[in-house]
Amino acid sequence: MTTVRISELARHDGASVTLRGWVSHTRSSGKIAFIVLRDGTGYLQCVLSKRDVPADLWERFATLTLETSVTVTGAVRAEPRAPGGYEMHLTDLTVIGPSPDFPIQPKEHGTQYLFEHRHLWLRSRRQVAIARVRHEIVQAIRDFFHQRDFVLVDTPILTGSIGEQAGELFSTDYFDLGKAYLAQTGQLYVEAAAAALGKVYCFGPTFRAEKSKTRRHLTEFWMVEPEVAFNDSSDNMRLQEEFVSYLVARALECRGEELKELERDTAPLALVTPPFHRISYTDAVARLNALGSDIQWGNDLGGDDETLLTKQYDRPVFVYNYPKGVKAFYMKENPDDPRTVLNNDCLAPEGYGEIIGGSQREDDHDRLLARIREQGLDPEAYRWYLDLRKYGTFVHSGFGLGVERTVAWICGLPHIRETIAFPRQIHRLYP
Ligand code: 4AD
Ligand code: MG
Repeated sequence: MTTVRISELARHDGASVTLRGWVSHTRSSGKIAFIVLRDGTGYLQCVLSKRDVPADLWERFATLTLETSVTVTGAVRAEPRAPGGYEMHLTDLTVIGPSPDFPIQPKEHGTQYLFEHRHLWLRSRRQVAIARVRHEIVQAIRDFFHQRDFVLVDTPILTGSIGEQAGELFSTDYFDLGKAYLAQTGQLYVEAAAAALGKVYCFGPTFRAEKSKTRRHLTEFWMVEPEVAFNDSSDNMRLQEEFVSYLVARALECRGEELKELERDTAPLALVTPPFHRISYTDAVARLNALGSDIQWGNDLGGDDETLLTKQYDRPVFVYNYPKGVKAFYMKENPDDPRTVLNNDCLAPEGYGEIIGGSQREDDHDRLLARIREQGLDPEAYRWYLDLRKYGTFVHSGFGLGVERTVAWICGLPHIRETIAFPRQIHRLYP
């Protein structure tokens, strides 16, 4: 007997095959019984009638509970009304592992409870759909940069210097060398690599000891960070809009079924094409004030401000040239207004807010050193980074896109914690 997966059934129409999987639903009229089986590649309705199957098989059906693992054998038949388009008429059924009292039943469980059982919750239709969308986006990220001749450079997770914000570092003892920090970004390292390879990116987990308990923050998240030699801030935004549009188009094209399962209204996503809207930070503050926000020039946009602003637009918006005071030390001062830097955030529509932070980097050695000192950082830890400005300095720009925020937006989820298999938050380290 051929053993197949549910996704392959189309090739076996009419044949008798064997499948292995888990029971996701059963029902019986007393004469006819149904098992909905899932094997990770799809769902299959299996049918058995009391009259046609041996008595012991019928009895085994009665022992099945949610998430029992089983082997089934039967004839595959096209059935347009069945989910997936096929049905199996059972001739054999073996229990591999029983599943007494599966903790997640088809009823309302609180969020807290579900995250305590995240290792089992991952099997639900909704979580499977999210995982597949995430997978598609991650693959699309790699394809986008590979097709454009970027070189992947893996950057260290254990680092000696601070990438973004001193207050948000995880540290650990590192032999005789004192403290090591878990990377908040790979950016400083891809800047060095950009001088070697021109167009590069890193893609990996990053860590922020953020005290924020918002729907947009995790303490461990995945970020992709391209860096391009000789791109200025405008080139940087053009690359971002092409990139984000590509990711959205790919999800729409390849994960329509999953987005449907998630009940995502895809109409707003279909609008995501270049060019995105562009507004300077200064104009954004004026606009927000007119809309009732009390934000003052010089403050960072809060989550609520971002939500309010994105609701004014039908596609993503770039907010560019923020005040120096609220941004990282490495951003290039704006020659036309030295109170600001040549940076941008990309805010996703429908209230989602920041998914990208990017900037042109300070390429002048002395200005960069001054910024490092101003921020109370130790120039010795940045000696290598300053060298990049000493030996053939170059205009360069890059950005970081957060995978979880992007997946949350594309899936239409209210919180980013469901976008990663095992989220890490201030109060969550289990499972
Ligand atoms: O704006 P951020 O802090 O920028 C950087 O780290 C730069 N070094 C990137 C670069 O220029 N190479 O973070 C970039 C993105 C944010 O826009 C957001 O999508 C995501 O990373 N992000 C988080 N996602 C989840 N939880 C958090 N705590 C996040 N912090 C940032
Ligand atoms: Mg940011």
